[in-house]
This record gives sequence, C-alpha cells and structure tokens, in this order.
Amino acid sequence: MRSMLWLAPVALLVAGCELEETADGAKSGADLYADYCAACHGPGGTGGVEVAGKSTPDLTQLAARNGGVFPMTYVMSTIDGYARDNTHGPMPRFGDLIDSPVVTWVDVDGTPTPTPQALVRLAQYLEGLQT
Ligand code: HEC
Repeated sequence: MRSMLWLAPVALLVAGCELEETADGAKSGADLYADYCAACHGPGGTGGVEVAGKSTPDLTQLAARNGGVFPMTYVMSTIDGYARDNTHGPMPRFGDLIDSPVVTWVDVDGTPTPTPQALVRLAQYLEGLQT
C-alpha cells in the first residue's frame, strides 16, 4: 500500500499532461467551422445557402441583429442543439456529433460553466466574423 501512495501524484501528473495534449491537438474554431458548418452557412459565414427550402441565416450579422452584442450563449446553445426545437429546423444538433473535452467557460455574468471546448471555439470563431 505504502509503495502505491507515491504513485498517485505521478499518475495525476501524467493525466494532466494527457489532458493538455488533447486540448492542444483539438481543432481550432476555423477548422471546426470548415468541417461542420461551411457547407450550409458558406465559407465566410454569410449564409444564403438553400437548405430544405430555406435560406441559411447570415452568421456575420449575429451581433448586429442583437443590438451590437454578440449573443455568445445563444450561439453555443444553437450549435449544441438544446436551444432549438430540432423538429423545425434542418440544422443538426452538434452537441451529439462533436466529440470534445469539456472546459470551463465563464459567461458574461462571471458564472463558470462547463462547456464542450468545440462549442466555445466555434462561437469565438463566429464572434470574430461579425461585421
Ligand atoms: C445542414 C445545414 C446546416 C449545418 C451543417 C449547420 N447549420 Fe447552422 N443553421 C442552419 C439553418 C437552416 C439555420 C436556420 C435555423 C433553423 O432552421 O434551424 C441555422 C441556424 C444557425 C444559427 C442561428 C442563427 C440565427 O440568426 O439565429 C447559428 C448560430 C448557426 N446556425 C451556427 C452553425 C454552426 C456554428 C454550424 C457548425 C457547427 C452550423 N450552424 C451548421 C443550417 C445548418
């Protein structure tokens, strides 16, 4: 038993390194967007692609349509799928599709919220596209 005790911190260290490696190796927001979103929302996010008889929304105008404030929580919820009634829209629920480590994201109120890293990166990427 005693000999096992010193192993615990070593195991923790190793686990920590593994986590960091996963985080570093994870796809960037731009890569995630290109892989999962560009087909429907256009390479630049301007939308206008016809999907199931509807034109996709322009994702570069999310802040403009929200009084100049980028709706971070709404965007992440929309991508994840839980903010939408998916029976009424053709956009897939990406929460089930993108395998990603969970990170702590601090919302505008300062509340730390465990959130899949891919959602945070995608939303931050879209935030950068606002015009
Ligand atoms: C199969 C086509 C399709 C794919 C793929 C897709 N979307 Fe969508 N998206 C739509 C459609 C259509 C809408 C309009 C709402 C609806 O009917 O669901 C939409 C709506 C949205 C909205 C809400 C816009 C608004 O003005 O309220 C956001 C944000 C969004 N998509 C982001 C993304 C991101 C990020 C990805 C990639 C992870 C993605 N979408 C992938 C089709 C798609």
